[in-house]
Amino acid sequence: MKMVIELITPRLATIDDIGQIRRHEHEFSHVTDDLLKQVIQNNWVYVVEVEDEIVGYARLEFIWLNVPYLALITLEEEHRGKGIGTAMIERISQDLVTQGKTSLYTSSEVMEPKPQMFHRKCGFRECGIIAGMNDGIGEIFFVKKLAESA
Ligand SMILES: CC(C)(COP(=O)(O)OP(=O)(O)OC[C@H]1O[C@@H](n2cnc3c(N)ncnc32)[C@H](O)[C@@H]1OP(=O)(O)O)[C@@H](O)C(=O)NCCC(=O)NCCS
Repeated sequence: MKMVIELITPRLATIDDIGQIRRHEHEFSHVTDDLLKQVIQNNWVYVVEVEDEIVGYARLEFIWLNVPYLALITLEEEHRGKGIGTAMIERISQDLVTQGKTSLYTSSEVMEPKPQMFHRKCGFRECGIIAGMNDGIGEIFFVKKLAESA
């Protein structure tokens, strides 16, 4: 049992992970290796490894370089539905609390009910919509309070 828990423990990414991280960013050609290096060095990227393979990936950004925003979280298909995504949100949330942050934002396309359900299950609540974003599809924003004072 202990071994299973260790295997799904999210960790901060390192520069050495970039090769494997690329496939999790395949939809985002604007995310160059240089950009990835920067966000990794900022400690904004988390991964989950199973048997030396990165199966989970999450990238943080900061609105106004201050307010945490989870820009992307994605798992290899065969590793979904096992609590890894939840473990990643928990690890990120813990780290943000130690940085004094009180809330975490994220978003998804209006027409994506599945990730929206995941976010709600992880404690996010809908907080707004930007109509017209993503070529007119629209983007729903969510916030998760990390501390009582948030
Ligand atoms: C969304 C994603 C990160 C969730 O990670 P995961 O490890 O599969 O999720 P978990 O196993 O931790 O599930 C946590 C809860 O969310 C729910 N959930 C997870 N994925 C879901 C989905 N696709 N549809 C509906 N509910 C979902 C689970 O049922 C679970 O609820 P429960 O606690 O009542 O059982 C993962 O499925 C994924 O990579 N999806 C494709 C990429 C994506 O959509 N990313 C999010 C937008 S950036």
